[in-house]
Amino acid sequence: MNIAQKPSRAAAGARASKKSKSLDVDLATTKPGTPGGVFMRQFWIAVGRSQDLATGKAKPIRIMSENFTLYRGASGKAFCVDAQCPHRFAMMHLGWVEGDDIRCVYHGWKFDGAGQCIEQPAEEAGFARKVKIGNYPCDEYLGLVWVYFGEGKPPAFPPFPHRQTPGVIDVWNVEHVPCNYLQSFENSMDEVHVAFTHAPGGSHARLSQDLPIISAEERDWGLLRFGKRKTGLVRQSLHYAPNVTRVIVPPQPGMDGVGGWPELYFSFTPVDDENHLWLLPVHVQVAEGPERDAYLEKRAQFVKLLAQTRPSVDLAREIMDGKHCYADIRHPDLAILQDIAVQAGQGRIADRAHEHLGRSDAGIIAWRKILTRELKAIAEGRKPKKWKTPPADIEPTLGF
Ligand code: FES
Ligand SMILES: [Fe+2]
Repeated sequence: MNIAQKPSRAAAGARASKKSKSLDVDLATTKPGTPGGVFMRQFWIAVGRSQDLATGKAKPIRIMSENFTLYRGASGKAFCVDAQCPHRFAMMHLGWVEGDDIRCVYHGWKFDGAGQCIEQPAEEAGFARKVKIGNYPCDEYLGLVWVYFGEGKPPAFPPFPHRQTPGVIDVWNVEHVPCNYLQSFENSMDEVHVAFTHAPGGSHARLSQDLPIISAEERDWGLLRFGKRKTGLVRQSLHYAPNVTRVIVPPQPGMDGVGGWPELYFSFTPVDDENHLWLLPVHVQVAEGPERDAYLEKRAQFVKLLAQTRPSVDLAREIMDGKHCYADIRHPDLAILQDIAVQAGQGRIADRAHEHLGRSDAGIIAWRKILTRELKAIAEGRKPKKWKTPPADIEPTLGF
């Protein structure tokens, strides 16, 4: 068993010494039909990078414990349909993309971009129009493919605004993180951790000098969180419901000096209840011309370096298993690796019933209250909150 799956000694101790607090709703699950699953399916969900979906190709994806096929048609448009053909359940991504349609590899049934069966080579005319494959609205924004998996009409697209100043939209490597998505979403609300988790390597040194006092306010689009420092300066970060954090972060190593601190629109996308993706589009403020060119050149060198280095998640697993010392490890994407080790190290699904939350956890506490309220409303058949598209004039600030 991987160490990340074992209950920790600390959790076991807390269990023995404290009366158990039971959480009356499962905050972590996003399986279809569960309150958490229904909650998540009210929103557009980022499922992968646009650059990883080639024209004329189909690929399998697993999102919120369900399998789907994602493909890009000849027109350049992305489509999302069920994983399996409704005839005899062959996997759709084994087949062919023809124009904006997809044809099954088993008996050649072909479905259009709306999921309607339009060809069945071995069947009688008239049968095809009675058959559809599940089809999900699909669009692209900030270099990511977004899908709406819910009932009825999807909410407005794009799901949130981005800064309009000149710059480059870049998407960092996709990370496959072996734990529940909520651990990472919650970590993004925990500004105090950066002074400790990211101390080795010093990537967040400027944020670590003065621990902030955290507070958070619910908005009709999610959670607005503040980190107030002794200087009186406030760092403001946005958490868009249900799983996106918009925050200004330190540049990746080697990118210092070009473009300043990037603005990150971080999607924590559940694969299933024990795995999730980090999808990391950033907006880097650089002027058109030489500044932009310098950034792109440095960025290309960094991507090349990353491709030659062991994946962050592999090293993070080895740190969790005690094969390397956390404080000594070095990697081009060190902050990413450190976060994976700490968040996946809480266990595949963190034991929230036995934690000891303090005042620095104010953001996490606020989001759990919202999530608990919403999931209970769904479970009890009451109307959940009507979430709105976030306004463009509330933006993250750096706070120093
Ligand atoms: S299973 Fe797809 S056409 Fe038969
Ligand atoms: Fe972190």
